[in-house]
Parts: sequence; C-alpha cells; structure tokens
Amino acid sequence: MNAPDFQAWAAAGQERIEAFLQRVLPQPDIAPQRLHVAMRYAALGAGKRVRPLLAYAAGELSRADVERVTVAGAAVELIHAYSLVHDDLPCMDDDVLRRGKPTCHVEFDEATALLVGDALQSFAFQLLGDYRLADDATAQLEMVKLLAVAAGSRGMAGGQAIDLAAVGKTLSVPELEFMHIHKTGALIRAAAVLGARCGSGLSEAEFARVDSFAKSVGLAFQVVDDVLDADAPTATLGKTAGKDAEQGKPTYVSAMGIAQARALAAQLREEALAAIAPFGARGARLAQLADFIVLRQF
Ligand code: IPE
Ligand code: IPE
Ligand code: MG
Ligand code: MG
Ligand code: MG
Repeated sequence: MNAPDFQAWAAAGQERIEAFLQRVLPQPDIAPQRLHVAMRYAALGAGKRVRPLLAYAAGELSRADVERVTVAGAAVELIHAYSLVHDDLPCMDDDVLRRGKPTCHVEFDEATALLVGDALQSFAFQLLGDYRLADDATAQLEMVKLLAVAAGSRGMAGGQAIDLAAVGKTLSVPELEFMHIHKTGALIRAAAVLGARCGSGLSEAEFARVDSFAKSVGLAFQVVDDVLDADAPTATLGKTAGKDAEQGKPTYVSAMGIAQARALAAQLREEALAAIAPFGARGARLAQLADFIVLRQF
C-alpha cells in the first residue's frame, strides 16, 4: 500500500467520524444551547482522529462492521476531546490554543468547559449503550468496561494526575513511561482493541497482538507529542509550542533530549510492527498508522 492510498483511506475515516459526530451530538439549538454549542466546538471540525483511525484499521483485521467501529471510534474520540478540554483548563496546563482555535474555556468560560468535559464523557458511554457493537451482550458489556477503565484513574485520568504531580520534578525514564502509557497510551490502546472487538474474525492470540501493537504505539504517540512540543512551531501544532519546558513538565525531551526521544519513538515503532508482523499484508493499515504517528509533524 502506498502513501496516497493511506491518505485517501485516512481522509475517508476522518470524514465518517466527523459526519457521525455531527449527527449524534446534540444540535446547537437544543437546550441548554450554550453547553451544546460548546460540546460541538470541542469535538467537531478538527483533530487528527488518530484513535478512530486505529479502531478502523483494527476493525478491518477482525472483519468488523464499519458502522459498529464508527460508534466505538467515536466514543473513544469523545473521551479524548473531553480530556483535551480539561487538560487545557487553567488548573491543569492552562492553554489558550487547541487545534488552531481558542481553547474551550477561553471561547466560552471555565465552568462551561468543565461541563463540556463531563457531558462529552457521558455521551461517549451513552453511544455504547445506544448502538449494538457486538452480537453478544456480554461481549458488549466487556467493551464498555474496557473504555471505562482506560478513561479512569487506572488509565487516562490517573496519568493526568501523575502528570500534574510531576510538575517541577525530574522523572526517571521508567516513571515517564508509566505516566505516558496511562495519560495517553490507555485511550490509544482502547481504540485499537475496541475496533478489533467490533468484529469476531480474530483469535484471542491475534487480539493480543493488536493490543501489544497499540501499547507500543500509544507510548510512541506521547513521546512524539513531547518532541513536537519542543521542536515544532505553534502554527503547525495548532497549540502553543514550548509549553512543557515553560511549565516545568518532565518529558522524554527533558529526560534524554530531542534526538534520543526521536530514536526511542522509532524503536517503539519497530516494536509495534514486530507485534503485528504475523498478520503479514493484513496488518498494513496498522503499520501505516504507526508510521503516521511517529513521523507526524503536528
Ligand atoms: C493530543 O492528542 C493530546 C495527547 C494525548 C498527546 P492528539 O495529538 O491526538 O490531538 P488531536 O486530536 O489531533 O487534536
Ligand atoms: C495530554 O498530554 C494528555 C491528555 C489530554 C490525556 P499533553 O498535555 O502533553 O497534551 P497537549 O500537548 O496539551 O495536547
Ligand atoms: Mg497535559
Ligand atoms: Mg496539555
Ligand atoms: Mg503535549
């Protein structure tokens, strides 16, 4: 598969997710209007949609129904969008720019941004109750639980707590890894596994390979985010560059420098590719996503 093919495939997935979210998110004229306008502001129109794309690629491997994967991918994307709104609040990273626009609390207000996060998270789980994702109800409940764990104190929210507690400190590389696999890796991993679980065309050993791939890719994703914060301009990033150093956040860049952090991301890519090597050509989409994540400029 060549690069243009990947771009067309990714664009189609991004459009499918956008159209679905446009349709299912409460319309802006429904009360309470301001909250619904703000939820749509935070969730629609931009973002790389990496998590839904991972769900689609994993779903193709397990021969999942694309409509089901769209619901699962959208649910993860909503949790992600909520995490960004809260991550940008003054009590967390205090950021004013996100996806090239004013952050939610700047465009609206802090209380609204807090509620946007709350409501987007609830809405993600509402979707998992509204639509059928697996033929078997028990399997579907397991999927709901998987996302709940990935978003909670043993996943993303826990990683965010570690991030905030680490401000001004130096973390060892194992401590950084622990923080990153929680704050960012958990949702990325959930996206791939949920996409795969929407289908039944994989053995348990094959599901485990997808999971192992996503674990490496999830860590690589945040290593690259750390590199870009230090090495890319605000205009490309769509968020304020240089914030980590300014705020005294321990990152892979502060721990080992940009060149070594990039080398680590490349090594994690290799580990991810090794996990899916037994799929051969069937794993090509996942492999392309690993490349996209490690080589991206924003
Ligand atoms: C940014 O995530 C926050 C992290 C978890 C590193 P993305 O880089 O996926 O942000 P969008 O969705 O494309 O804006
Ligand atoms: C964010 O990490 C992780 C989550 C939102 C869970 P960062 O704080 O590094 O993300 P950016 O750089 O603001 O997007
Ligand atoms: Mg943060
Ligand atoms: Mg941040
Ligand atoms: Mg960052």
